Amino acid sequence: MKIVLLGPPGAGKGTQADILVKRLLVPHISTGDMFRAAISNGTELGKEAKSYMDKGQLVPDIVTVGIIKDRISMSDCREGFLLDGFPRTLPQAEALDSLMEEMSTSLDAVLNISVPLDRLIDRLTGRRMCRNCGTIYHLLYNAPEVENVCDACGGELYQRDDDKEATVKSRLEVYEAQTAPLISYYEQKGILHTINGDQPINAVTAQLGEALGENWS
Ligand code: AP5
Ligand code: MG
Ligand code: ZN
Repeated sequence: MKIVLLGPPGAGKGTQADILVKRLLVPHISTGDMFRAAISNGTELGKEAKSYMDKGQLVPDIVTVGIIKDRISMSDCREGFLLDGFPRTLPQAEALDSLMEEMSTSLDAVLNISVPLDRLIDRLTGRRMCRNCGTIYHLLYNAPEVENVCDACGGELYQRDDDKEATVKSRLEVYEAQTAPLISYYEQKGILHTINGDQPINAVTAQLGEALGENWS
């Protein structure tokens, strides 16, 4: 299955993607995770991406489309993939459509996780991530068993640089201006499913499953 997860920063795309890929057995492709890996490896791509991410702005389309093209052309994506955080501009969505066409395939579903704005700020400023395995936590809503320690691997938890309140605000503005228009883009194509993301994590998963025709409840 070829799926796009759409939604504002903090909607729960990464949290749900981690659960979904274990059930669907497709690769989880997150452009944000790819950029963060490039930053921690100190590559040129990482340096360029960081200059935008730190300001809460989008990395230029030409860069982002390039890395997605390379990733989706890999053999593990032949049977499907779950895109998390891509596309997030109209030119990116159009580039993905052309890529799908070149590969004689198409997207099966776009899952739009919808969460009210005032909930997103709390979610983002309270998020912690594992430095070692990337597992996502929240100080209140999804806390680890031991403070600052990853349940999955024992790794240290950290706060993303772009989860400070000032950067969060510009990320939310960028979402409204550049990414929200994709909702009607995919609605017109008839593949959009909007899910209420303001419920417990397992309830959101169940509804995402329903939208995909799976019974996970
Ligand atoms: P990216 O890493 O994609 O960040 P984002 O889109 O801003 O989304 P987040 O990862 O912040 O949120 P999420 O929806 O994954 O939520 P999560 O599951 O973690 O991108 C970062 C940056 O990279 C961008 O700003 C941009 O600069 C660049 N970039 C990336 N892709 C790009 C592209 N295509 N083009 C250009 N630039 C790009 O959950 C959030 C918190 O809420 C967690 O603490 C979690 O525990 C908690 N939570 C989750 N679900 C629930 C629930 N149901 N109830 C309560 N709490 C919950
Ligand atoms: Mg994420
Ligand atoms: Zn971990």
